[in-house]
Amino acid sequence: MSSTAEKEKPLFNPVAHVGGVTFEGVNVLVEDWIQCWDSEHPLLDIGCGNCKNTIQALDAGARVYATELSIDTVNALILQYSLRPELSFHHLSLPENIPFNDCTFSGILCSEVFHFLNHAELIATVWELHRLLISGGKAVITCCSENAKFLEPIDLKEQRAKQRQKRPDYFTPIENILEIEREIFAVVPPTQEALDIYELHKQILPKPYFNVFNSGQLAMLFERMGFVIEKITTGPAPQYPLWDHGENDQVRLIARKK
Ligand SMILES: C[S@@+](CC[C@H](N)C(=O)[O-])C[C@H]1O[C@@H](n2cnc3c(N)ncnc32)[C@H](O)[C@@H]1O
Repeated sequence: MSSTAEKEKPLFNPVAHVGGVTFEGVNVLVEDWIQCWDSEHPLLDIGCGNCKNTIQALDAGARVYATELSIDTVNALILQYSLRPELSFHHLSLPENIPFNDCTFSGILCSEVFHFLNHAELIATVWELHRLLISGGKAVITCCSENAKFLEPIDLKEQRAKQRQKRPDYFTPIENILEIEREIFAVVPPTQEALDIYELHKQILPKPYFNVFNSGQLAMLFERMGFVIEKITTGPAPQYPLWDHGENDQVRLIARKK
């Protein structure tokens, strides 16, 4: 394939059900997740999408439980990958439907799922991650940052900083992300690409709200829930289906259960 064709290859695909997009590459922290495998306690991939991360972990010799939001998607994944002893698919919906026992997993990947959760769902989810992990097991998380470049035309970041001063532990989601995108377009007239992405968002968002994260605040939540922070940083995410990309679009977190 020529380098031009490589460039044109989409970095994401809509998932078959409503729940975002799934990415063509693996997660930037995939190796950290795979290294959690201790030959005894399996890895968990929450919201596995097209399973690229799961497959990389399987190829490295790990046992993996991969989960998705709808039963139809789980059935489609089973047909696509056919079951192997070291791979199983499960229906899981954060935070309330998590069909696993306490202290089951040595590593949990939650790649680009947190931004679909509101405050209450997020708190319950981090609590569940703690419950599912063995002592010393790790949660590996990536999600959209409040520093994402596409948000810069509006003063959302400043508003959120003020909100955090009043309630430092409250994760205020964007109540209606499509409305915010329309606000952005009123400030910076959209290109055709931006309009196409907006149309995609209309189809794929599971709920109207969307959370963008402050890395310090997310790390504080994990600390309070009994984790030690091993990594908290931001970085670029050129794969995000956005019309404008920056150097700090993604929050990256690795947290170890004490
Ligand atoms: C942006 S996609 C990321 C897919 C995959 N992890 C990847 O990195 O390519 C988000 C995934 O999270 C799943 N998801 C969204 N909300 C969820 C929830 N409340 N509980 C579990 N999974 C959820 C969606 O089904 C979707 O596959």
